[in-house]
Amino acid sequence: MSTAILTTINGFGDAFALWLRPVPCPVPASGEIVVRVEAAAVNPIDVRRRDGYGRTLFKLLGAARMPLVLGNDFAGTVCAVGRGVTGLREGDAVFGAKPPSNAGTHATHVTVRAEHVCLSPPDVPAAALATLPYNFLTVIRAFADAGISRETVKGRHVLVHGATGGLGQVAVRLLHGLGAIVTAIGGRQGLEACRAGGAAELVDRHRQSLATLPRHFAATLNFASWEDEASLLRVLAHDAVGHATTVHPLLSNFDRLGLLAGGVATLIDKRDQRRVKPKSARYGWTVFRPNTSALRSLPHCAAALTPPSVKTFALAQAEQAYLHVKERRLGRAVLLPGQL
Ligand SMILES: NC(=O)c1ccc[n+]([C@@H]2O[C@H](COP(=O)([O-])OP(=O)(O)OC[C@H]3O[C@@H](n4cnc5c(N)ncnc54)[C@H](OP(=O)(O)O)[C@@H]3O)[C@@H](O)[C@H]2O)c1
Repeated sequence: MSTAILTTINGFGDAFALWLRPVPCPVPASGEIVVRVEAAAVNPIDVRRRDGYGRTLFKLLGAARMPLVLGNDFAGTVCAVGRGVTGLREGDAVFGAKPPSNAGTHATHVTVRAEHVCLSPPDVPAAALATLPYNFLTVIRAFADAGISRETVKGRHVLVHGATGGLGQVAVRLLHGLGAIVTAIGGRQGLEACRAGGAAELVDRHRQSLATLPRHFAATLNFASWEDEASLLRVLAHDAVGHATTVHPLLSNFDRLGLLAGGVATLIDKRDQRRVKPKSARYGWTVFRPNTSALRSLPHCAAALTPPSVKTFALAQAEQAYLHVKERRLGRAVLLPGQL
């Protein structure tokens, strides 16, 4: 029987190193496929989950059981197909994003449900493709939460806070494609990439305060800091469509306070922010979740969304890859499990 190698942790926090664990190759159940992983992104959520972030809710989903394999994104080749799967065959080049589980993609082989996979476009390398699905699907969800569509933002100002990050780079390009006039906020290092992605105005977050921005935005997106949530709601125009945030304290409230008190704290946090926004504007706390129809649209725009720089690591260098993300170094971190 062939062997798979998993990058696992056995407990939360820095005391538990990432270690490579050989296991028998997985066998797909009905509706599943096994992918030989060529590339798997390391995202900020992986680094935070390794430290225990979200463990209260993830435990309910079976996604905090040890040994834990992190990682959502993958690009690779189908190597086994379960019963009932149509449209995918052994040898197909595919990519996609798994929902949180304890059997993530930082491994040589991963089992995924067929609806969480799509065929790879031929013109984008696996390392770049593997950076896209989790961020793309989260941004699409944020757009829905904020009421953003071509109809609502074409020719109007939209602000992206955290525009220089993984989510921000995708959002800026998609918003530009929708015809929005994009203001990109981030650290100076990544702002030129935002301009290349179509941002009309660049704001260096270390030099200009959010309070100085005009109140003319049809929508605002917060991919940067919960501390800035209210400031972003204050720059919405009176007829704005809405605001969405991915940096809300949903998971940390449950971790800090438990399920009941965490739920109450979440309701209070949301209510307090809703008071700041214009009446008509939507207000959403975005949470990543798989979306098959959005995923199927990604191959058409993947080449345009590839990140400005990618830093690759062999599976045995997983610690360095996690450190790269933790220290916020330049370039999206991608594991290449084919290279042990
Ligand atoms: N809720 C969900 O389901 C979900 C899904 C995906 C991501 N997320 C979260 O969304 C956030 C963004 O994800 P990402 O992958 O885009 O992260 P990322 O690549 O690390 O980008 C973070 C962005 O925020 C900016 N930033 C960081 N700290 C800041 C601060 N204190 N004040 C203002 N700006 C700050 C960074 O600016 P510079 O680096 O240029 O200085 C960068 O533009 C992360 O916190 C991630 O965990 C949540």
